[in-house]
Amino acid sequence: MPGLLSSPVCLIVIWFLSWSLQPSCAQIWTDEVSGVQYGQLESNVTLACGKSQIRIPVVWHLNHSSALPWHKVTSEGTLVLLHVDRSAQGIYSCYDNRGLRLHSVTLRLGYPPGLLSISCQVPNHTHVRCSWVESVKTFLPAQYNASFRGNGQEWRPCVVDVARKHCDVDHPAFWQTIHTLRIIETNALGSGTTFVRFKLHELLKPDPPESVLVKEVEGYPKRLIVSWNFPSSWPLQDAFPLVFQIRYRPLGSIYWSEIYSEESPVVIFDALAGHLHQVQIRARDEVNAESQWSEWSSLPLVKPWEVYTTPDPAEELPTDDRIPECFFPFNTKPETSTAKSDNSVIEDEGNLGLVILLVLFSVVIFITVPSLIYVVWVRQRRRDHVTKQELTSMVKMKSMPI
Ligand SMILES: *[C@@H]1O[C@H](CO)[C@@H](O)[C@H](O)[C@H]1NC(C)=O
Ligand SMILES: *[C@@H]1O[C@H](CO)[C@@H](O)[C@H](O)[C@H]1NC(C)=O
Ligand SMILES: *[C@@H]1O[C@H](CO)[C@@H](O)[C@H](O)[C@H]1NC(C)=O
Ligand SMILES: *[C@@H]1O[C@H](CO)[C@@H](O)[C@H](O)[C@H]1NC(C)=O
Repeated sequence: MPGLLSSPVCLIVIWFLSWSLQPSCAQIWTDEVSGVQYGQLESNVTLACGKSQIRIPVVWHLNHSSALPWHKVTSEGTLVLLHVDRSAQGIYSCYDNRGLRLHSVTLRLGYPPGLLSISCQVPNHTHVRCSWVESVKTFLPAQYNASFRGNGQEWRPCVVDVARKHCDVDHPAFWQTIHTLRIIETNALGSGTTFVRFKLHELLKPDPPESVLVKEVEGYPKRLIVSWNFPSSWPLQDAFPLVFQIRYRPLGSIYWSEIYSEESPVVIFDALAGHLHQVQIRARDEVNAESQWSEWSSLPLVKPWEVYTTPDPAEELPTDDRIPECFFPFNTKPETSTAKSDNSVIEDEGNLGLVILLVLFSVVIFITVPSLIYVVWVRQRRRDHVTKQELTSMVKMKSMPI
């Protein structure tokens, strides 16, 4: 059944039939071909038991059940459903007093079309796309007939995509200041027309720049280079230049810095060294000051170039967290480096003391040993001298006549 309903032939038939009826009775209307009757929600809906009023009394069933919504049956056997809501939808059948089915109809409920809420996008000078949403939900399948024209010009079709609820115009008369779009929505309960006027040059809004790339600049810790492509929907002719706005900030900052440029790439000279940055870019028609900026491009995170030198203990000791490693290269277990390095500081202070002690000790040895030797030598010489003198005196005494 839904396939049948949505088929274009069926809808066109419904449309013509709805046109041929007076607006007052459009809410109660039987489609003989599909066996579907459409009714308006919150109204009274009348269901006739076939064309001829014979064989009374009749019995009505909904979905093969005798339970019916709030209703009355007229003397002709007609069922009147009072103030229907969506739960009253279903298959209604009427039977005569012998249980013979006389007639069956499917009831679908909804509203006639109301006004549409329309918005138009103009991504370049040669294309307009308008999309719409129902301001009142009708619950019923609809057809749309959309036309477009510049001031004082002929209507021309805006090509409709029913499923996506939008229509497209190629090569609109851009030089016309005001354009009008007309959309006629038609469903089984009636039709409604919505007009909307707009200025194309004010709606002109490019798609965001594409292939946006932010990179570090080797050797420059405060620079970033930003490159991008024109939006692919923007014609690459010099007749329609774009201006680009680039904004950037260190991650966590609320203040953006901005650069304007007509060409890619652009170099940021004042990035914050060592920090992640957010960079975005958008585009606008350069000539037409009343046109709109595109949406911003996506937000990549990039860090400027950084120095990754091997640590030099003589130069960058105190502030670096690599201190334990470069101070104590013997410490080969990085996972416990902090705890270990504290211990080795203490151990190494002990070692240093030992070395100093040893040095002092050897200095003492070096000084005392030669002096001792010297003292011993001097005393020996004196003793030698004394013995000599004693010997001579002894010799003298021996040589003396007794
Ligand atoms: C529906 O029918 C009831 C009872 O006949 C009547 O009072 C009411 O006014 C009707 N409502 C409409 C919207 O016609
Ligand atoms: C009757 O059947 C239709 C589907 O055919 C369903 O949508 C509807 O809710 C049913 N109504 C009741 C009152 O059961
Ligand atoms: C749309 O409406 C116009 C004028 O009202 C008509 O000429 C045209 O045939 C209609 N198009 C469709 C698809 O119904
Ligand atoms: C203008 O934009 C439309 C929709 O994006 C696109 O299909 C069309 O090719 C664009 N026109 C040009 C000249 O690029």
